[in-house]
Amino acid sequence: MLKVIRYTVAVLLLAIGGLWAHAWFTHAPGQSMADAFGQRLAQVFGQDMQVPSAAGVVQLPPGISLGGGFNLTRQDGVAVTERDYAGQWMLIYFGFTYCPDVCPTELGRMADVIDMLGPLAGRVTPAFITIDPERDRPDHLADYVSRFHPRLQGLTGTTEQIAAVARQFRVFYARANSPNATDYLMDHSSFIYLVGPDNRVRSLFRPDTAVEGMARMITGQLRAAAPS
Ligand code: NI
Repeated sequence: MLKVIRYTVAVLLLAIGGLWAHAWFTHAPGQSMADAFGQRLAQVFGQDMQVPSAAGVVQLPPGISLGGGFNLTRQDGVAVTERDYAGQWMLIYFGFTYCPDVCPTELGRMADVIDMLGPLAGRVTPAFITIDPERDRPDHLADYVSRFHPRLQGLTGTTEQIAAVARQFRVFYARANSPNATDYLMDHSSFIYLVGPDNRVRSLFRPDTAVEGMARMITGQLRAAAPS
C-alpha cells in the first residue's frame, strides 16, 4: 500500500514538473509564467483547478526548485558571485534599462518594498539583473540603479553568464524584432523573486502584487527563518 502511495506521489510530482516545463517553453511573450502554468494545469485537470497563487504571490509547486549560484559583474565593475551575498536574502528582478514601462515600475515597487521592511531591510539585498547585457554595461547600470534605491545592485555579465542565471530562474527573454541593431526592445517575463540565503527561490511575486502584501509576506518569511 505504502509503495502505491509513494509511486503515485512520484508520478504526480513528475507530472507537475513536466507541466511547469511545458508552460515555460510554450508561454507567450509577455504572458506571466503563473498564467501560463495555470493554463496548462487547467488543460489537464479541467477549469476548476486553482492556479497556485494568491494575491499575486506564486507558491512554487512541490518538486520545483528555482535559483542557484551565479557569476556576474556589479555596476562598479567588480565580478561577483552568490558568495558575495552570503547570509543575505535577495529580491531579484530581471529586466533591461531601456525598458519603457514595466521594468521601471517593478523596480520602483521593489524599492518601496525594501523601505517597508524597516529594520529587517538590512537582511535583504535588492538586485536588478539585466537580460540585455550588450547595452547594459556596468557604468550604464550604475546610473540606472541609483535612480531607484541606494542599495539596489545592478548586475550584468557576458551573454553566456546572463543566459546561465536566467535559466536557473526560468526567466524568459528574447530580443523583439527590430530592423535597428542598437535601438530595440526585449520581451521578458516579469517576476520579483524572493531568494533565501541558500540561493533558492522562496516566492515569486507577479507584477500585480500589492507592495503591502509583498512586504508582509517577506517579513513573515524572514521572521520564520533563523536570523542570519
Ligand atoms: Ni521590462
